[in-house]
Amino acid sequence: MEKFEYFSGIPEVGIVPRAPHAAPLMRHVYEQEHGRGGFAGKVSHTYHLYPPTNWLPEESRLLDGAGFAPHWDSPLRPVGGVHHALGVLEPEAPRDVYRGMGRLIANATAAMSVTAPGAPMDYLFEHHSATLVFFVHEGSGTLETTFGPIAYRKGDFLIIPKGITHRFECDQGPQYYWVYESFAGDPEKAEAATTGQFLTHSRSDYKFPRSLDTRNEAGRFEIVSKTDGTYARRVHPTHPFDAVGWRGTYLPYKFAVEDVRPLVADRSHVPPSGHTVFILPGCYICVFTVRSAEKEGLWVPFFHNNLDYCETLGYHVGRFFSRGGVFSEGMVSVHPVGLPHGPHPKALAALLDDKRPQVFEEVGIMADFANPAKISDFALGLSRPDYMASWSGYTTEPRFLHDPGRLAKVRSEADRLADARDRLRPGASEE
Ligand SMILES: [Fe+2]
Repeated sequence: MEKFEYFSGIPEVGIVPRAPHAAPLMRHVYEQEHGRGGFAGKVSHTYHLYPPTNWLPEESRLLDGAGFAPHWDSPLRPVGGVHHALGVLEPEAPRDVYRGMGRLIANATAAMSVTAPGAPMDYLFEHHSATLVFFVHEGSGTLETTFGPIAYRKGDFLIIPKGITHRFECDQGPQYYWVYESFAGDPEKAEAATTGQFLTHSRSDYKFPRSLDTRNEAGRFEIVSKTDGTYARRVHPTHPFDAVGWRGTYLPYKFAVEDVRPLVADRSHVPPSGHTVFILPGCYICVFTVRSAEKEGLWVPFFHNNLDYCETLGYHVGRFFSRGGVFSEGMVSVHPVGLPHGPHPKALAALLDDKRPQVFEEVGIMADFANPAKISDFALGLSRPDYMASWSGYTTEPRFLHDPGRLAKVRSEADRLADARDRLRPGASEE
């Protein structure tokens, strides 16, 4: 034992050799390297009781993907020109996290799916094509991984790097998860050069497993893997969670949405991109969380056309003020590239009538997908037919209708307000 305790330069837990690929311990444990970038990128090493390739060849085979997860690879269609409001998934039969997965939106490098598991996983899973980002809209449980278990609950993000063996042990009660797949890289923490590493959250908010739950068990242990649309299973005679230690930075972790401390502005409007928490190739994930309303800046969304991204927004908790009561918790909006949208008529009327809320009591998870993005048949099956009509107040409410005198009124207001100033402003030295 050394006189003092030390950190090592790379996180490690449990029994590990002095360095990767080195030292006498290598003759007593089996090292497995989990490497990105052809072993030149992020990497972790796990140290096992048994060889990771001890599968039973006679039981290893490809699976019928459509039979395993019928809606995960749902056919994709072009999307554009029409907004969609997707209702809450109500599975016909109880299925587990992965068998019940339904794809909603995808582009070449990222996808969004939804699952409402109601059955236990009797296998372990590895995604060989994507790093997974789960958002737990409802439910709780334990994510079991090679690196140790992670307890999760409503409002947690779970990041499961590509290739990592894992299993969901869901608690009793309803479960509802949004799932983002990143095919071309891992999610990176979003931060701007000018606002630094603690807005809108800190890396210290990420929770990595530290409690190994080593299983020295014999039996039949099935691992299902997914590579694009190909599903395969293999069976091992020892429990795959037999790691006695690990070292590295390629790790699963969780991140609670309540740890997002949003950027807000009194005198301007923070654009959606100011709420980004994760950047993925071809996709960014934003969190709109409980926050003060802007005081002098526009406190409803501006009307906007997102000219390069198809926007999805999952409604997690709250009242979703700007959407004028159209959405309830668990629903997802899909706003295709280019098509304008913005505040619903009731929300804009509140702005015009100066009925500013103090606080937005809402949490929504936005994931925007770089064009060309596509929508799945599965999503179209959840699409509410009347969503485009939710803006109809703009063609029925008198205050928004054509008025022959409107141009003159706007000119007159512009004259009256030509010298208007912010109420919050530096000292009135010029007056
Ligand atoms: Fe939008």
